[in-house]
Amino acid sequence: MALAKRTSKISKSLTLAITSKANKMKEEGIDVVGFGAGEPDFNTPAFIIDAAKEALDKGYTKYTANSGTPVLKKAICDKFFRDNELTYAPNQIVVSNGAKHSLYNAMLAIVEQGDEVIIPAPFWLTYPELVKMCDGTPVIVDTKDDGFKLTPDKLEQAITDKTKAVIINSPSNPTGVVYTKEELWALAEVLEKTEIYIISDEIYEKIIYNGIKHYSIAQYSPKIYKQTIVINGASKTYSMTGWRIGYLAADIDIVRAIDNMQSHCTSNANSIAQYATVAALNTKSNFLDEMVKTFDGRRKMIIDFVNSCEGLSCPNPQGAFYVMINISNIFGKSIDGKVIDSSLKAAELMLEYARIAVVPCESFGAPEYVRLSYAISNQDIEKGLKRLKEFLNNLK
Ligand SMILES: Cc1ncc(COP(=O)(O)O)c(C=O)c1O
Repeated sequence: MALAKRTSKISKSLTLAITSKANKMKEEGIDVVGFGAGEPDFNTPAFIIDAAKEALDKGYTKYTANSGTPVLKKAICDKFFRDNELTYAPNQIVVSNGAKHSLYNAMLAIVEQGDEVIIPAPFWLTYPELVKMCDGTPVIVDTKDDGFKLTPDKLEQAITDKTKAVIINSPSNPTGVVYTKEELWALAEVLEKTEIYIISDEIYEKIIYNGIKHYSIAQYSPKIYKQTIVINGASKTYSMTGWRIGYLAADIDIVRAIDNMQSHCTSNANSIAQYATVAALNTKSNFLDEMVKTFDGRRKMIIDFVNSCEGLSCPNPQGAFYVMINISNIFGKSIDGKVIDSSLKAAELMLEYARIAVVPCESFGAPEYVRLSYAISNQDIEKGLKRLKEFLNNLK
């Protein structure tokens, strides 16, 4: 009996491998500082939890419309108008089981055998896997020499007659870089002359620092708006990762196709979580400001640490909650005779000798880097950085 060939193309998540090793150590009573978190360490705000309880009490426990409840889709349209100056009608929205599901739906709707999808590296490790799951070919474009952002020149060079889509992720996981309006508009100028789709993953839109403003490439022009599938969700902004609510906005033909496919796969996203997300999107609570302020303080702690360590460097993260550290200067060094020859090896040894779990960035298209999340407490960050410093000092 044979499995489908596509299953063999999908890479195992290195992030999960390190996380499960760290978890095992924790279970054994070892005090490990985990810098791997991909979710805010804040509780979901009480007013959202209250809304979910209300949904249960009111009996919102049945199937909803496949693409989301009308009231949630309206709240999403209002959000796009308010925050991004984008006008969508409710029939241009599909609510799914997390932004990851929305991304998969988007790929399924547009990518087929032989299609190429341009992915600027470093990238969130799921993107190339989703492309492969749809029998497409990821085309990785390195951006390390361009401030970790795709440039119009590099984009033009990567486009072939097989290019079906390009992925833009701003603010970015793992680099934290945020594209300026001018940078996005320059990419839009190139893409406007083509029939290439743009998948714009804006899940970290609200986790952004230094008063920087987030722009969506869909804002550029009516043609680019039509080419773009905007991805967003409740996970990061409202600390609702477990609730699994993501959504996309796109041209009506794309939405119709996705709605149709979703109706045969998962049907609607959880009815209670949808109800609660309406409360989240319509809130005037200052939960988000407080969370972002806390993240900002932690971000600065890690940047100051990197700057204080000779040989380490990082891109300046202006959004999301990750710092990606270049550790190539420690390649070739060793601890206990064990040589660091890759970021994966570095992460393994950091876990073993310093009891810190970091994410090696091989699967993020950045093999000279490790990613540290600061969605963990200030005390843990302090403790973890102290251990990292000792680890670095002990290298031979
Ligand atoms: C860049 C990016 N996009 C999408 C997602 C998926 O978010 P969700 O929890 O809504 O599926 C993540 C989660 O880590 C992410 O980092």
